[in-house]
Amino acid sequence: MVTSAALNHEALLSWTRAHPFASLFTLLVLYITYKLALRPILFPSPYLLLPRPVRASYILGQRVVEAKGSTFTDPTTGTRTLISGPGEVTKHYAQTLHTGVFVFPEPFGGETLHISDPYALNAILSDIDTFQSDLLRSTIIEFIVGNGIVTRYGDAHRKQRRLMAPAFTPAHLKGLMPVFAKYADRMCDKIDRQDGERVDFGEYLDVTMLDIIGLAGFGYDCRALERGRDGSELSSAFNSVNQAAIDFGIGRAIHLGLSAMLYPKACKWPLSEANRRIEKVNRVMDRISMSIVKEAKRSVVAEGEDLGDKKDLLSLLVKSNLSAGAGERMTDREIAGQIQTFMFAGYETSSVTTSWALYFLSRHSTIQSKLRRIIEEVVKDRKGVSLEELSAGMLDYDDVWCDELRYLDHILAETLRLCPPVPGNDREATSDAVLPLMTPVQLKDGRSIDKLVVKKGSRVTIGIKTVNYDRRLFGEDANEFRPERFEDLPQAHADAKLPPYAMYSFVGGPKSCIGSKFALTEMKVLLIAVLARFEVSAEPGLEIRQHQALIVRPRVENATDGPAAGMPLRIKRLPHKTTL
Ligand code: HEM
Ligand SMILES: *[C@@H]1O[C@H](CO)[C@@H](O)[C@H](O)[C@H]1NC(C)=O
Ligand SMILES: *[C@@H]1O[C@H](CO)[C@@H](O)[C@H](O)[C@H]1NC(C)=O
Repeated sequence: MVTSAALNHEALLSWTRAHPFASLFTLLVLYITYKLALRPILFPSPYLLLPRPVRASYILGQRVVEAKGSTFTDPTTGTRTLISGPGEVTKHYAQTLHTGVFVFPEPFGGETLHISDPYALNAILSDIDTFQSDLLRSTIIEFIVGNGIVTRYGDAHRKQRRLMAPAFTPAHLKGLMPVFAKYADRMCDKIDRQDGERVDFGEYLDVTMLDIIGLAGFGYDCRALERGRDGSELSSAFNSVNQAAIDFGIGRAIHLGLSAMLYPKACKWPLSEANRRIEKVNRVMDRISMSIVKEAKRSVVAEGEDLGDKKDLLSLLVKSNLSAGAGERMTDREIAGQIQTFMFAGYETSSVTTSWALYFLSRHSTIQSKLRRIIEEVVKDRKGVSLEELSAGMLDYDDVWCDELRYLDHILAETLRLCPPVPGNDREATSDAVLPLMTPVQLKDGRSIDKLVVKKGSRVTIGIKTVNYDRRLFGEDANEFRPERFEDLPQAHADAKLPPYAMYSFVGGPKSCIGSKFALTEMKVLLIAVLARFEVSAEPGLEIRQHQALIVRPRVENATDGPAAGMPLRIKRLPHKTTL
């Protein structure tokens, strides 16, 4: 008996060695069988009674539907529409199920709670000890975005956030105005000098925002406007990570899927060409970041308290680090990690939002004229110049944030509401939690609940796009671009107690976007500069839609040679006296 068991064991081992892939495959099949057939019986879902769409596929859940879109037939009119695009399918489920909470079917019987009820969202966002990023997501973000504050929760997050917050206050943003203005003027000069009337604002804004975040973020000249995205070693390295990160070949998709199921940290193993490239470029970024930190430290120590002309976020961070209590400080490596984070968090988000703002203005000429007239009055009153004489360099922080310009705030809020660069954000409950609900949820057995019990280990999605389009919060015409709505929102909007800026695109709570004011300030400066010099209109025959890359970007759907990134618009040059 014993020997035969040992023999079998031996035989099994040698078979395994001879057939590594087959063995792995067998294990996988066993594991999947467990997940598919046994686990749902052993541990039934605690959310069986919650609203949910019909599961499209047992193995793939609703992920393929989400990626490819689905055709919806309106029950009353019978018209068929294709629902597709970032965040659209989940928004559609929430709207047709009439619920602020529903179960989104995941691969292999998994589930995510998609949440768009403001009370529940506010409770999740304010409790970052209970609702943290799951291990797979943190590992991917850390791999791509760098080892910075975005991946931190709990005490580690509180410490970093406390040190970083001073750099983002209005007092310090004032000092960054010259950087915003310099690049706004340069961008407009360059657009003015180019031939023709068709301008790809997507491209111009990308390189301009890259230059701004480089200089304003950490005193580094990316030279992107002058020489393109690869204009400097850092921006070139950054660009390659960015490219590699959205390379979702089938191999990489399987790799990620298996990592998710078996061992999240494996998602960064160098099993794909993309991962090997990211790994390699990350080493370059680390080296440059460390030398930027060393230099910033040296100059902060040399300049002393007033920092001389060093106003960038990194110098301020180094300064608060040096004056912080012993337990509060960050290592050089932790500070270097924030550089890559600033670039990832701060450049594309602001660039695409400014692109979308121009997109909406190009499609709504009365809104564009109204805004231009308001800007004209403001610069006349506050600066004593006409639009023709205006250069961005004349604008102070208080000018772009003055009350008279509130219409521009509403245009940006409306743009961010309709085109959130990050349409959803996943968290995992580290313990059981009870979430309040603004609107009771109807269960399948007819009962309704006004509190949602979330079990430890459950995944929730913060349905940013879904809640941003909620008709009860934003009015019946919530699908339309109408900045005036922010002057007169439904009472439910006030009751819902939304985060600052009245929508969820910067999320909310202690882990909300730390750069929101920074972003709004630079976007305002750029938009004022563009509108003072150009009238923008739609390029005839082009359809531009939201498209999921690392963040959501604009994409021309019917360009002659297939879909293409960018925001091509038509410009008319307005009379302008260049003062440079
Ligand atoms: C329109 C522009 C922007 C939008 C829509 C935006 C949106 C967001 C969102 C949704 C998050 C949460 C991400 C998550 O938890 O996974 C976030 C976090 C963050 N953002 Fe922004 N962002 C913008 C601009 C900026 C800028 C310009 C900077 C820096 C200069 C910046 C720095 C950060 C940082 C450091 C975090 C992490 C905060 C933390 O974990 O405590 N963002 N942003
Ligand atoms: C931050 O403070 C710590 C502790 O004094 C120090 O070791 C580290 O070098 C500082 N980092 C920077 C970039 O100033
Ligand atoms: C692109 O799509 C728009 C809107 O669907 C349509 O009006 C236009 O004719 C299309 N242009 C081309 C070149 O196909």
